Parts: sequence; C-alpha cells; structure tokens
Amino acid sequence: MESLDDLARACEERRGQVSSLKDLEELRVEFLGRKGRLAQCMLDLPGMSAEDKPTAGRKANEIKAALTEIIEGRERELAAAEAGAALSRFDPTLPGRRPQQGSLHPVTLVTQEICDVFAGLGFDVVSGPEVESDWYNFEALNIPPEHPARDMQDTLYVSESIVLRTHTSPLQVRTMLARKPPVAVVAPGKVYRRDSDITHTPMFHQIEGLLADRKVSMGDLRGTLTAFVRAVFGADTRVRFRPSFFPFTEPSAEVDISCVLCGGKGHVGSEPCRVCKRTGWVEILGCGMVDPNVFAAVGYDPEEITGFAFGMGVERVAMLKYGVNDLRMFFENDVRFLEQFA
Ligand code: DAH
Repeated sequence: MESLDDLARACEERRGQVSSLKDLEELRVEFLGRKGRLAQCMLDLPGMSAEDKPTAGRKANEIKAALTEIIEGRERELAAAEAGAALSRFDPTLPGRRPQQGSLHPVTLVTQEICDVFAGLGFDVVSGPEVESDWYNFEALNIPPEHPARDMQDTLYVSESIVLRTHTSPLQVRTMLARKPPVAVVAPGKVYRRDSDITHTPMFHQIEGLLADRKVSMGDLRGTLTAFVRAVFGADTRVRFRPSFFPFTEPSAEVDISCVLCGGKGHVGSEPCRVCKRTGWVEILGCGMVDPNVFAAVGYDPEEITGFAFGMGVERVAMLKYGVNDLRMFFENDVRFLEQFA
C-alpha cells in the first residue's frame, strides 16, 4: 500500500518535466502500461491475506484513477499550450485571400441593356416557353405547314406538332392573345436551331419586340429602332433600313448600322475592315409592319390595329458591341474571357 502511494507521488513529480505528447505517452506506459509500475505492484496482490486483499484492491483502483487523471491533466495542458503557440504563429498583418467573384455573362448583360432601353420607351418585358407548339412558332405567324419559309429555319422537333422554338416571335402571338391593344413588349429568350458551325450554335438568344395599337406607322418603327440602336451603339451610329422579307411582317426590312469597327469607312487604316467586309454596314436585326394575317390569327381587327415587330440575335449584338470575333467564346465559359465583363 505504501508503494502504491509512492507511485502517485512519483508520477506527480514527473509530470512537470514532460513537455511533449510523446514524452507523456512514455510516462503513461511507465506507470500504467501492461508491465508498468502499477502492474508490478499488483503482482503482490495474490500473495496477500484474504483480509488485506479487498483494501489493497480498492487502493490500487484509486491509484490507477489518480495516475490517469495526472496524465490526462497534463495532456490537456500540453494541448492548450500548443493551441496558444499556433495562435502566436498567426500573423494578422498578412494580406487576405481575395474571394473569387463571379460576374454576369455578356449575353445576360446585353439582354439586360437592350431590355432596359425598351423599358425606357414604355415596353414591358415578357417571356414564354422554349418548348412550343407548331401553331405558335409557325402557323399563327403566317407560316403555314407547306410554306417555304419553314426551310429558312432548321427546326428541332419534339413531336410532329411540338418544336423547340426557332425564334422568339411566338411571344408576339402569346402577348396578343393575352392582352388587348395597345401592347408594347420585348421578349428575350433562348431559341434552338439544328445548326452548328463556326457562326451557328444550336442554342442562342434572341429578343423579340412588338408594338400594336391604332395608327402605328413605319415611321414609328424607324424612330423606335433608331433610338434603340443609338442607345446601345452610340449617338453617332447611322442606321439604314433595307427591304427584306419575313412571313409575319409586310412590308419587312433588315436594319443595318454603320460598322462598329471602321465607323462606316470600310477600312481601318489601309486595311479592309474585317467586320463589315468593306461595306461600311453591319446587319443588326429584322423588322417590319405586323402582317394582317397575324392579327387575324390572334383575334385583333386588322382594319383597326396596326403595329410593328422586330427580332434580333443577342450574341450578334454582343459580338458587335464588345468586338468579339468568335461566337463560340460565349459558350465555352473560359473564365479568362468571362472575367473581362466583370
Ligand atoms: N423571327 C426572325 C428570325 O428568327 C426575326 C424577326 C424578323 C422577328 C422580323 C420579327 C420581325 O418580329 O419582324 O430570324
């Protein structure tokens, strides 16, 4: 029993000298290990009288608990000291790590900018389904089943009568079915075509516009689109309306703007301009006066209501605006490209 008390005292004395977890483990093995000093004392137990045995056994357990507490206490002290040391190694004057910051995609930026310009002119922004019925995508837009204009667009069919919309023009139809004139809306969104090469991607973005009211003229169309072009490309931009054809408008036009690179000169220094191919003009959108057949399809009286519509490709506007010469960059999601729009 005396030697058991000695054991506790010896362990208590040694604990202060232990300065690492490794040394502490050695101390534990020395006192509490299978062949350690406590185990040695216990060897005497079987030889004791029946009277002394229980007392000695209890004492041995007490000492075991005491030794355990000494060692675990020291372990806690060492851990706390280590944490303190780590804290003193922390240098609060080091520069922080800058968090990665995302930015809006250029297609989103241009879409927002265009919609903002039209919102400022009193247009609402609307949207609709990308999976569309044949009727909205073609039929109601004066493109009947055998119409050759269907060849202009390589359609992705979901079923015989359901398509992935090939343009945002179905939003004209949806808007007029849902609202009475006057209506003025722009409709941005994804469109799909079976087309994929350097200048075409199977999915791209368009913005459709529609204004319908009494006494809307081609002059309104010209004024509205000229204001839009100058807001997005600058007040000096010149605008040209070129006769064209679309089934849903009559008359129809394509709008060209003076070239964003050469300013309309057709050359940059002595080099021919690579954006407008010397012509001085670049095409930016299609437009026209809403065809009476479209009004009839949605239940507007073509005798009373007139209107204009237009449609443009967002990637195309973005390429011209930011001087991007490869359409694929918008879809590769290379951070080095995208972060330039932050
Ligand atoms: N939907 C046409 C296209 O995808 C673009 C377009 C042209 C829309 C003339 C119009 C318009 O509303 O009047 O190529």
